[in-house]
Amino acid sequence: MPKLLAFAGSIRRNSYNQAILDVAVEGAREAGAEVTVISLEDYAMPIFNEDEESAHGIPERAQAFKELLINHDGFLIASPEYNSSYPALLKNALDWASRKAGDEKVMQAYKGKVAGIMASSAGGLGGLRVLVVLRMLLENMGVIVAPNQKAIAKVSGLLDDNHAISDEKTIKQLKGLGRDTANLCEKVCQ
Ligand code: FNR
Repeated sequence: MPKLLAFAGSIRRNSYNQAILDVAVEGAREAGAEVTVISLEDYAMPIFNEDEESAHGIPERAQAFKELLINHDGFLIASPEYNSSYPALLKNALDWASRKAGDEKVMQAYKGKVAGIMASSAGGLGGLRVLVVLRMLLENMGVIVAPNQKAIAKVSGLLDDNHAISDEKTIKQLKGLGRDTANLCEKVCQ
């Protein structure tokens, strides 16, 4: 049974991306994956600075986040698109976790892991452009990114009063992404 870690690149209250992530998580669980959902708010870490790292090492919360990545087989990541790219919150967390410590030879947080990626936006492209750069970023760090990906456009019209996704077609797509990620991980994760 693959172990997936799920997190959004937004800590906004009623985040659209948290809402789509929650549906993908359901799909992964239905496919048999064990999924841990976290908020990056609980792993708030300073903006990466190599001087700080040299002086004090990896900060406690960044280390805790990195260990979570290491201890899971794969990831489900939902990201907003900020100016056609990823938010600093997400990139900063991923950067900290890429830092090798001690006798670490490879990026243990990423090498050989699987990721399912998704985005959403009130706009017409659904954050499609962030998926291009997020896929490249993750693959460059050794992650196998599932071919299936979802950019959910005009997401503000797909929610119920509790800010959960209520549109049946979107639920099917996102559950499918969660399921595909779990199944890919079952096949390739060591
Ligand atoms: C945005 N937003 C945005 N949306 C989009 O579709 N393409 C974009 O390039 C941008 N750029 C952008 C830059 C900055 C700095 C902000 C703050 C916002 C809008 C963005 O999609 C919106 O804030 C979403 O609500 C963010 O996702 P969450 O927080 O709801 O998950």
